[in-house]
Amino acid sequence: MSKTLQSFFPWIKTPFIISAPMLGASTSRLAVNVSRAGGLGFVAGGTDPASLNKMLNESKQHPFEMFDYPYTNLLQRRGALPIGVGFQLFNSNLELLAPIIASHKPAAVWLFAPKVEEDLRSWATQIREATDGLTRICVQVGSVAEAERSLALAELDFLVLQGSDAGGHGRRQSASIISLVPEVKDRLAVTQKAGVPVLAAGGIADARGVAAALALGADGVVMGTRFLASEEAGIPEGWKRQLVNTGDGGVTTRRSTLCDRLKENHDWPAWYNGRTIRNKGHDDEEGGMGDEENVRLYKEESKRGDSAWGAHGRMVTYSGTGVGLLHSVEPVESIMEKTIRESRHMLEMSYRQAIARL
Ligand SMILES: Cc1cc2nc3c(=O)[nH]c(=O)nc-3n(C[C@H](O)[C@H](O)[C@H](O)COP(=O)(O)O)c2cc1C
Repeated sequence: MSKTLQSFFPWIKTPFIISAPMLGASTSRLAVNVSRAGGLGFVAGGTDPASLNKMLNESKQHPFEMFDYPYTNLLQRRGALPIGVGFQLFNSNLELLAPIIASHKPAAVWLFAPKVEEDLRSWATQIREATDGLTRICVQVGSVAEAERSLALAELDFLVLQGSDAGGHGRRQSASIISLVPEVKDRLAVTQKAGVPVLAAGGIADARGVAAALALGADGVVMGTRFLASEEAGIPEGWKRQLVNTGDGGVTTRRSTLCDRLKENHDWPAWYNGRTIRNKGHDDEEGGMGDEENVRLYKEESKRGDSAWGAHGRMVTYSGTGVGLLHSVEPVESIMEKTIRESRHMLEMSYRQAIARL
């Protein structure tokens, strides 16, 4: 792991694991438990300053004191929170949200999906100023060109490279992390930005994915879908059940804008869509059903509660292609412990084998 990341977040363990900000799913308890286990947990900031303030206040109710590393206490004494906050820029108001960030000083702020990329500059500058530089800033990008543009526009502490396997929203046009990560690393090297740490996101759901991402050159990983199937995730039980019962994610999930049309959220910039588990809504759309009827049936079905989830159902079930690697809903602590332990073992074994061959 890069020394830079270790200096930003002194409690983190190797390999470095981030839990993605997932609107409606990443509870403050989920984020705190990821950080307590040696990672960095994110909550999703949303658009409402009062709700964000409440969520960050709630995060302080969880026992941060269980962190292993004394420096974390120092971080807390300076008034910073050892979790991060993610924002989707296209519908968020910096002027309203910056005062909340200033008063809580999260360890990091994650920027995603600006309508106009120049906005990255004002967000990064104002957040840095508002938190006396205590809050680290990253941007989640989905292409080599976007990575370069973002670094040229704003002073960033690290980058998240989101590949096409990712659950939730991402670029319609994207590569998987297998080529995205090494190509971005190559570009950073020739543009004198080799020191900027990069994290890989998209399809990583167990230790094998973590080890592979590090082999590609990433300094750590982001997992979203894996943490949806955690006890702490704030999503319906039916959604969690569907995640652990679905396999073969390349076929059973798909990227589409149907999720936004069903939720009548038309604000997403045109270059994004969302990866969800395929269900009746997709089948009907492919069979020729128009949006009006699909939305009506979706709303009807939403009233059925947990039983509405499933391949036969119509609920919007965000998930990455790694869904087939989830077999049970577990506490965050055990997901973190197992993933870190097993990926370390794998990396050690491959290193030993490589040495033995010399
Ligand atoms: C349910 C869900 C909600 C998400 N919400 C957000 C969000 O609010 N902001 C954001 O930047 N990314 C969001 N993402 C995308 C994640 O940041 C990340 O790229 C993705 O989860 C990584 O892929 P994986 O799910 O295969 O691990 C979301 C992903 C999921 C699955």
